[in-house]
Formats: sequence, C-alpha cells, structure tokens
Amino acid sequence: MRIAITGASGFVGSALVPALRTAGHEVVRLVRSADDDGDAVGWNPATGELDTARLGVLDAVVHLAGENVAAGRWTAARRQAIADSRGPATGRLCRSLAALPVRPKVLVAASATGIYGDRGDMPLDEDSAHGSGFLAEVALAWEAGTRPAAEAGVRVVNLRIGMVLDRSGGALARLLPPFRLGLGGVLGSGRQWLGWITRHDLVRAIQAALGDERLRGPVLAVAPDAVTNRTFTKALGAALRRPTVLPVPRFALRLLFGAMADELLLASQRVRPTRLLATGFAFAQPTLAQALQG
Ligand SMILES: NC(=O)c1ccc[n+]([C@@H]2O[C@H](COP(=O)([O-])OP(=O)(O)OC[C@H]3O[C@@H](n4cnc5c(N)ncnc54)[C@H](OP(=O)(O)O)[C@@H]3O)[C@@H](O)[C@H]2O)c1
Repeated sequence: MRIAITGASGFVGSALVPALRTAGHEVVRLVRSADDDGDAVGWNPATGELDTARLGVLDAVVHLAGENVAAGRWTAARRQAIADSRGPATGRLCRSLAALPVRPKVLVAASATGIYGDRGDMPLDEDSAHGSGFLAEVALAWEAGTRPAAEAGVRVVNLRIGMVLDRSGGALARLLPPFRLGLGGVLGSGRQWLGWITRHDLVRAIQAALGDERLRGPVLAVAPDAVTNRTFTKALGAALRRPTVLPVPRFALRLLFGAMADELLLASQRVRPTRLLATGFAFAQPTLAQALQG
C-alpha cells in the first residue's frame, strides 16, 4: 500500500514508519514544514491544504499529528493549541482527503482513552458513552473531525489509544528517572485505572486497522489488562528493582501540574479492547510485566 502519515516524526510515528516500510509498504510523510526532503509531502494543518501535485494516489492515511498533551501546564494558549490541532485540523485534513480525485480506502486516525473522562471502576469499551472534561471534549471533536472522510466512503478507524509504553520516549521515559532514584510512588489514591499499550503493539494494531475491513469507527488500542496506578507503580518499581514507597498526594500533583493532574494522572479509565480482541488480534506484550521488561 501507499500510505501517508501525519505526525510521522513523533514517538509513535517514528516507530510506525520503519515498521510499515519493512512490511513492504510505501510511506509518504505528510509534514508541516516545506523544507523537508525525500519522500515528504507538504500539509498545512491550519488550512488543510495538501501538496496534491506530489501526493500521488494513496491507499491509506494514518493521522497521528497533534500538539503534545503532556508537554507542559495547560495554559490557555496550550489548551487552544491542543484543541485546534485535534478536531478542527482533523476536519480540514479529512475534507481535503474527501476532495481527492482518488480517495484513500482507509484512514486510521488517532484518538485517546481520555474520551471516557474519569469513570472510577466502571468497565469501559467502545460501546460506552464518552465522558466529560477538557480531554474528553477534545477527543470527541477529534473523532467527529474524521466524519467528512467517512461520509466520502473512506473506512475510518478511530484508534482510542491508551498510555503508550516504550523506554525510549513518552510517559515511560519521563517516569524512569525518578523511579530509578527510588522516588517513584502512587499518584493520589492509586486506585485510578489506566489503559496502556506498548509502542510495539500499537504499531501492530495500526497495521491491523489498515488491513482488517471489519474494523471501523472507535477501536480501543490498549492491552487487555488495564491496571490501577498502584499496580502500575509497583510493577515499574519491581522491573527496576527500586522501592516505590513515596506516594504523591493529589494536592501536590495539582500544584505541580495544574488541571493536567486531574485529567491525565488522576482520571480513571478501566478500558478493554473489545473490538480488537473480537478480530483475533494477538498482543505481543499483553501483560504489564512484559511491557516493562528491557
Ligand atoms: N503517546 C501516548 O501515550 C498517546 C496516548 C494517547 C493518544 N496519543 C495520540 O497519538 C498521537 C501520536 O502520539 P505521539 O506520542 O507520537 O505524539 P508526539 O510524539 O507528540 O508526536 C505528534 C506529532 O504531531 C505533530 N505535531 C506536533 N504539534 C502539532 C501541531 N500543533 N499541529 C499539528 N501537528 C503537530 C508532530 O509531527 P510533525 O512535526 O512530523 O508534523 C509531532 O511529532 C497523538 O495525536 C497523541 O495525542 C498518544
């Protein structure tokens, strides 16, 4: 397949691109800056404009781009950038894809488990209602942004991604230094559930979504074993052979991270990947112990 990817330079994209190439696909990186070389094609998220002269005919698009949610405190400007780069930018991209003379057959678009808000111990899957809060609203608009593509006949898969684990980046790379110093500890009550997936399995899930016609609409990209923050903390401490006895109280998290603490660190989402499992998708790293090895 000839596959275009937005956000190709990111934590997920940088693993996806070589994996797709190894599998024999042709990859076109959709980049925001014009001064790129080689296989890159220009894309302007502010207008939706694509460099159609260089784009060629696409079989598929993987849309990963978006302002990093965890990069800093959610000031008004950052909230704006996070929101604008999701729903509205996705809508513009999808209108451009719908207008292509030959449309791609499939769009795999990132979304996030944040769409469920804060739901305590309630088991959640793709049939569960969305939640409330900033991230839930952002994710809802993000998925709605793909509608122009779906309405034009493109098979759209909205991958609701959980915390992506790989030691080279993302949340785990931030957690490793304090945990290695023995400063890791449960966040708040530690009872909040979190859905996670290894980057390796996420790349495989994206490949499954590209190829499996049964997948359409919301699809949870999380391992089957959601854990509480307490279980996660203990497992990471055990993997590093370090103590995790210092809890970080809720008020301290709020002081450090502001509103982000409640939605990203303390919100509870007990998610299960019902749709992926129904297709027979086999996780290479289904348990947290496997995910935290190496
Ligand atoms: N990592 C996780 O744990 C996780 C969890 C749930 C959901 N997700 C979602 O999955 C997607 C990929 O995640 P990731 O961890 O690879 O993210 P990332 O490392 O932050 O990369 C995202 C990419 O998006 C592009 N980008 C950055 N700011 C942008 C903006 N303002 N407007 C448009 N594009 C922008 C950049 O690529 P270019 O410079 O190449 O354009 C960047 O490399 C994201 O949308 C993320 O929200 C990630």
